[in-house]
Amino acid sequence: MRMSRMLAIAAITATFPIIASAADTATATLMGPKISIGTVTLTQGPNGVLVSADVTGLTPGAHGFHIHQTGSCTPDFKAAGGHYNPGGGGHGILDAGGHHAGDLPNIHAGADGSARADYFTADVTLADGAANSVFDADGSTIVIHENPDSYGADAGAGGRVACGVIIRN
Ligand code: CU
Ligand code: ZN
Repeated sequence: MRMSRMLAIAAITATFPIIASAADTATATLMGPKISIGTVTLTQGPNGVLVSADVTGLTPGAHGFHIHQTGSCTPDFKAAGGHYNPGGGGHGILDAGGHHAGDLPNIHAGADGSARADYFTADVTLADGAANSVFDADGSTIVIHENPDSYGADAGAGGRVACGVIIRN
């Protein structure tokens, strides 16, 4: 009787580290040309990453939305480099030669310029040390473009209108 109670207490204690590590999240605060225009939250799940975007200040319509390879948005958004592409290969989620790990579907802004989007991707991880981690040596960014991504080999998404460095919470 006493032994089984001790085992029960031990079992409860052992579950706490699992609960504490369940919410591995990161946030990118998106900056427009001058001001903050939104946030993107990345949540590590058992089989991939949930990417949730909440943005304002966009022009109405579709905009390319990607994870870029360098964790910097300064002195300008070109500092973010190209699309995160640890596996090699070409651009475009609908292209035969694609796709980059950082390629995600477009985000769509309403008439008021606001947009919400949830994506799930198994192409990246928040785990340190993994080959496809957004937390590699130089970090990663979220970038939104002025035009929609074609999803083909030529993205055609144009300039960069928002950029945020992905930072672990
Ligand atoms: Cu991009
Ligand atoms: Zn790409």
